[in-house]
Amino acid sequence: MAKDKLGVGILGTGWVAGAHIDNFKKIPGCEIVAINSRDKKKAAAKAALHGVPSATPYDDLKAFLKHPGLDVVVICTPHPNHPAETIAAARAGKHIVIEKPVALNRADLRKMVAAVEKAGVTTSVCFEVRWIGLFRNIQAILAQNLIGNLFYGECSYFHGIGPWYGQWKWNVKKKIGGDALLTAGCHALDGLIWLMGSKVVEVSAFSNTSKKNPLKYEYDPNSVAILKFANGAIGKVATSIECRQPYLFPVLLQGDKGTIWNDQLATIDWPGVPKEKWSKIPAALPDSGDVNDHPYMGQLEHFVECIHAGKRPTNDLKACAHIHEVVFAIDEAIKSKRVVKVKG
Ligand SMILES: NC(=O)c1ccc[n+]([C@@H]2O[C@H](COP(=O)([O-])OP(=O)(O)OC[C@H]3O[C@@H](n4cnc5c(N)ncnc54)[C@H](O)[C@@H]3O)[C@@H](O)[C@H]2O)c1
Repeated sequence: MAKDKLGVGILGTGWVAGAHIDNFKKIPGCEIVAINSRDKKKAAAKAALHGVPSATPYDDLKAFLKHPGLDVVVICTPHPNHPAETIAAARAGKHIVIEKPVALNRADLRKMVAAVEKAGVTTSVCFEVRWIGLFRNIQAILAQNLIGNLFYGECSYFHGIGPWYGQWKWNVKKKIGGDALLTAGCHALDGLIWLMGSKVVEVSAFSNTSKKNPLKYEYDPNSVAILKFANGAIGKVATSIECRQPYLFPVLLQGDKGTIWNDQLATIDWPGVPKEKWSKIPAALPDSGDVNDHPYMGQLEHFVECIHAGKRPTNDLKACAHIHEVVFAIDEAIKSKRVVKVKG
């Protein structure tokens, strides 16, 4: 039986850590009780900056995990830290929020899933786009069967990540950033799979870097993948983190009764709408790369509700492992120039 109150601890003191502190502060029954950093002074400064001065600062993961009253660990460090931190938190019996990507390779991913399943703790992967107004309204439209059976879907992530972002200095490195999909485009892949309601079974893909590589990526910052879903639908996901333009997260879903194009709907079920006209879907759009604009609140409220109800979040680690398996298959497809089957 879960406790009414949850003590929350944060790993990392960067940009996204601040957004998680600010959101958890607003959830009834949750209290930020500890912050861990490589530098204890930074942890104390982060607590003061975000109005949680009573949170205990740590510079040691083992000591942090022993903090009295710690129930939830929120992993906000760079990607390569996520597997070991998830496994340590699961073994300590903590519920875990894990920033994306959860892992940079299959071996780490599978060890994390095994540790979390063995511990029986609740997890939430930060694929928060599922909770933005547009995605919630699209799910409602799909549930009403207004566009019929989906046969095609595409979703893309176009957001230049350069020196104007704190994470850029480590994100450009192959060993830390991973690839364009892992570091950022996975939001679009997750969003598409979430809306299509079917797993991806086969992929083919290409990637490139612009000729002059002005943002100095050690890996291709642009990729495009073609997807085949288990239910027979097909789709496409493109990513660019070196583009120079406002944040763009386009969504296109086509079904046998209609189409959704971002916040526009066409359906043959509405005979009063003129044939060539779109109808507007009123909703907040995924149009900002700022973590303070991200719909984390819906994700975290769902996580806390699931802890109290003993249920699995829709975005728990086991469920979101599939998104990462698709990325690993896409990486293989890029390297081999072949169609690759998804393993998990
Ligand atoms: N879900 C989302 O929409 C979203 C948005 C932004 C960032 N993120 C994810 O959050 C994570 C952190 O990103 P950020 O933008 O906050 O980065 P950041 O650079 O602002 O913060 C990273 C934090 O980790 C610490 N750190 C750096 N190297 C470390 C190391 N080797 N060991 C331990 N700690 C280390 C830094 O001191 C800092 O506190 C990344 O995995 C990123 O993908 C997710």
